[in-house]
Amino acid sequence: MSEQSQLTTGKRRILVTSALPYANGSIHLGHLLEHIQTDIWTRFQRLRGHECYSVCADDAHGTPVMLKAQELGITPEEMVARTRAEHHQDLCDFFVDYNNYYVTHSPENQHFCEEIYNRLDKAGYISKRTINQLFDPEKNMFLPDRFVKGTCPSCGAEDQNGDSCDVCGATYSPTEVKNPRSVVSGATPVLKESEHFFFDLPQFEGMLKAWIRSGAIQEEMANKLQEWFEDGLQQWDISRDAPYFGFEIPGAPNKFFYVWVDAPVGYMASFKNFCDSNNVDFDSFWNVDSDAELYHFIGKDITYFHCLFWPAMLEGAGYRKPTGVNIHGFVTVNGAKMSKSRGTFIKGRTYLDHLDPEYLRYYFASKLGDGVTDIDLNFEDFAQKVNSDLVGKVVNIASRCASFITKRFDGKLSANVLEPELVAQFQNASETIAELFEKRKYHQAVREIMALADKANQFIDTNAPWVTIKDETKQQFTHDVCSLGINLFRILVTYLKPVLPILAQKTEAFLNDELSWESAQTVLTDHAINKFKPMMQRVEMDKINAMVEASKESLNTAPKIDPNSPLAKDPISEEITYEDFAKVDFRIARIANAEHVEKADKLLRLELDLGGETRQVFAGIKSAYAPEDLIGKHTVMVANLAPRKMRFGMSEGMVLAAGPGGKDLYILEPHEGAQPGMRVK
Ligand code: 2FM
Ligand code: ZN
Repeated sequence: MSEQSQLTTGKRRILVTSALPYANGSIHLGHLLEHIQTDIWTRFQRLRGHECYSVCADDAHGTPVMLKAQELGITPEEMVARTRAEHHQDLCDFFVDYNNYYVTHSPENQHFCEEIYNRLDKAGYISKRTINQLFDPEKNMFLPDRFVKGTCPSCGAEDQNGDSCDVCGATYSPTEVKNPRSVVSGATPVLKESEHFFFDLPQFEGMLKAWIRSGAIQEEMANKLQEWFEDGLQQWDISRDAPYFGFEIPGAPNKFFYVWVDAPVGYMASFKNFCDSNNVDFDSFWNVDSDAELYHFIGKDITYFHCLFWPAMLEGAGYRKPTGVNIHGFVTVNGAKMSKSRGTFIKGRTYLDHLDPEYLRYYFASKLGDGVTDIDLNFEDFAQKVNSDLVGKVVNIASRCASFITKRFDGKLSANVLEPELVAQFQNASETIAELFEKRKYHQAVREIMALADKANQFIDTNAPWVTIKDETKQQFTHDVCSLGINLFRILVTYLKPVLPILAQKTEAFLNDELSWESAQTVLTDHAINKFKPMMQRVEMDKINAMVEASKESLNTAPKIDPNSPLAKDPISEEITYEDFAKVDFRIARIANAEHVEKADKLLRLELDLGGETRQVFAGIKSAYAPEDLIGKHTVMVANLAPRKMRFGMSEGMVLAAGPGGKDLYILEPHEGAQPGMRVK
């Protein structure tokens, strides 16, 4: 059945996935863009009455997970279990509602990996070949490309990655790197032979070319893939040697499936695990002749895996292929790549500690289209959009009308519909908005909904119920206006329900009504509602700033400070701006004279020559210096400090000295050549 005919004839059966987050890091804004995009689409399909399931899982396998667990001194299984639970909680707290959030280190996944591999092998798509690979002789392990560093063979830049150079952009094989070293142990890797298993991707070229042009992926990405075809498809290395955290390849002891083999199979496994305990027919979704739809939501960086390897594996093993792979761009923050030092690499949990998850859902929805361009989270724009659209427009409609209904009309909506044409306008938008959600043009759907919200507000402004309520003869009219306002609000929230499930929940409680997509086609008349409670707070800029600050701290990358060092005892002061710094005028001064001050325990009187101007400064350095040792030396002074009257005379500046005090005091002395009066900057 085509998508269009299914749309008009009835219930579709749909399975949706998001890319599986690796089990060795936290969920951050980049992940959330995808999970929120997926969740909006899934909720929309369910709201339309379709049978739509969504699954995800933690991506458990591979060298980085294995090494991280070693570092923590726990088993990879234990680490993965912890991370999975944390990821799932983060996603739930953003109201991302998967039917199953599983893990790829599961019996179901092992079963499907082995089955797919055996089928591919039987069909002749697997071959073996001995290759040379860099090996860490201390750790006794083969090194993935990213675990080798060294000098770029192209430009000579040091400390470059094993497969590419950040300085000149060259890509190369880790065996070409000069002075290579293992990131794991620091040892110099050696070349070692190993037998690897290869999947015959080139056999699938014809099928893949047709599939990517079948509408399964966005045209811009299909064009990109075309370039890869032109470069020629290669045999894909699907095995890794022990030690490796993964599934052993059947009949090949100490050889494991590369993580990118079992990760997409994890989609099937997570769904299977769900089906088994929920009485859903797994096969009817995955059989080669399945009429169910299958969509993967992914980021553009993993297109190769999902649009070449994965469909080829499915085809080769006799399974159905995805109906669509929906590819999105990256998240940038304030126009730049997320940055740990700027505090814009924001973890889901840090966001949740400061801000309402529905703000982010709405903001991403208002920016997401069906393309692969990056999505910028601009904090000013974020606050402005949430405050003006959600708080100022949508929720405001209900709050303007509800109290009159409660206080003056017995908590019941009117039996009349005041402006049927206006209601019809709202209702007629239903299919346009549905189509936009269907096509993942959420930004346009949001725009349509907000245009309706403007109309609802205009209607209320024009009829001013707060004025007519005071007129005894206009009570019915006021009741009708407020009731229509509430009904328009109800339609708007229905359309927003996939994006804002909690706002929808609160609205349902307020209206004593459950919102389905069809709700938009009905009007509540003569219907009891509840007292209105505030539904959404404004975003405060200081909350955003606090989140950014916390993201800076949560990095935990501060260098370890020796507890006995001066820095530990006297930490660096609060940051200042350059403008703050530039106000201080430091100058080189020659100590023209230095002498004791009568009755002063700590002070010496200095005469400082600034090259034409002489200043008198009282400095608390008597405990560390004899006056005669200072005369004739150069030092640094603050020359624009306001003069201070002291018991012994005016002090016209300050000399700089380091150290805690007593004998431990050291005045600054410039390198030779510095002349009195020179500015220090
Ligand atoms: O890029 C990633 O984060 C991978 N863990 C995604 C895997 S998606 C799928 F293939 F499992
Ligand atoms: Zn280089």
